[in-house]
Amino acid sequence: MARPRVLSGVQPTGALHLGNWLGAIRNWVGLQDSHDTFFCVVDLHAITVPHDPARLAEDTLTTAALYLACGIDPQRSTVFVQSHVAAHSELCWLLNCVTPLNWLERMIQFKEKAVKQGDNVSAGLLDYPVLMAADILLYDADLVPVGEDQKQHLELARDIAQQRINSRFGSEEAPLLRVPEPLILQDGARVMSLTDGRSKMSKSDPNEGSRITLLDPPELVTRKIKRAKTDPTMGLEFGNPERPEADNLLGLYAVLSGLGREAATAQCASMGWGTFKPLLAETVVEALRPVQERYRDLRSDPSQLQQVLELGRERAEAVASTTLQRLRDALGFYPRS
Ligand code: TYM
Repeated sequence: MARPRVLSGVQPTGALHLGNWLGAIRNWVGLQDSHDTFFCVVDLHAITVPHDPARLAEDTLTTAALYLACGIDPQRSTVFVQSHVAAHSELCWLLNCVTPLNWLERMIQFKEKAVKQGDNVSAGLLDYPVLMAADILLYDADLVPVGEDQKQHLELARDIAQQRINSRFGSEEAPLLRVPEPLILQDGARVMSLTDGRSKMSKSDPNEGSRITLLDPPELVTRKIKRAKTDPTMGLEFGNPERPEADNLLGLYAVLSGLGREAATAQCASMGWGTFKPLLAETVVEALRPVQERYRDLRSDPSQLQQVLELGRERAEAVASTTLQRLRDALGFYPRS
């Protein structure tokens, strides 16, 4: 029997941070044995806000190398660049034509990002979730491992597949598109900013001290944690709405130390910030060390990464073109000879 399919991706906008790792990539790694896994670098999404053309290709390679450095195995997973498979853009167009505009206008992430762009909001930013739906639906993905912030986009992809494609153009016995399920694990699903425990750790925060990237050297990690926002209370704890920073930093410690929430709480319940912060810094540095070592190896041999992405493109294209053809036929296009 075919293994269930997984698809996910990260935008190549600067170095990935702890949120991207713990919310997404870390959960991809364990799925490789039991699932047929596809991971793309979503470069077309990265241009929905103003971008630097001189950096896009480099950031795409960095992101792909970080996938591998975090434990994605190109023997078992298909790793590819979204823009290398033209079917993503074409399916996006087909889905655009059946997706109601007001479904897109109510997307929380669109509203948040649009505010930051002022009067320079591109049509692409509004369309971002439809392209994401195309990414997922092209591969008949059963499962999409993402962080909490992507839940609404996943619901949109499900609604497009079910209500706008399957029920209009398919039949009950033979649905045209597979309706995907999100996979959001509790631990790490929402890593918060180091400078404000009430807002999400994000690549677009202008304050670099708000996030730890996977490529930050040990001294920088230590400095960022030292400066991270705290509160006047002794002891670390989960779930106190008055103490979002304690919740966030203890959460990072619980995941990265491998102790889990219960043991981490027991260890840190009466610890002062002055003891906890160096402990957390050391834990983060040790967790990142093997990732950074593998990353440096991978980047020292560009041909290896190139081969992985080329093979990935071939495998991805084979699956994507089949789905796209199914859709073209169902929508009634005159077939190409
Ligand atoms: P991006 O690059 O913004 O985020 C990539 C992944 O990281 C997760 N994430 C977080 N998780 C926990 N805490 C945080 N602070 C945090 N910040 C980000 C995101 O939930 C995501 O899983 N739209 C997607 C990219 C995408 C995609 C797809 C994902 C495009 N097509 C198809 C899955 C399937 C995004 O958020 O990228």
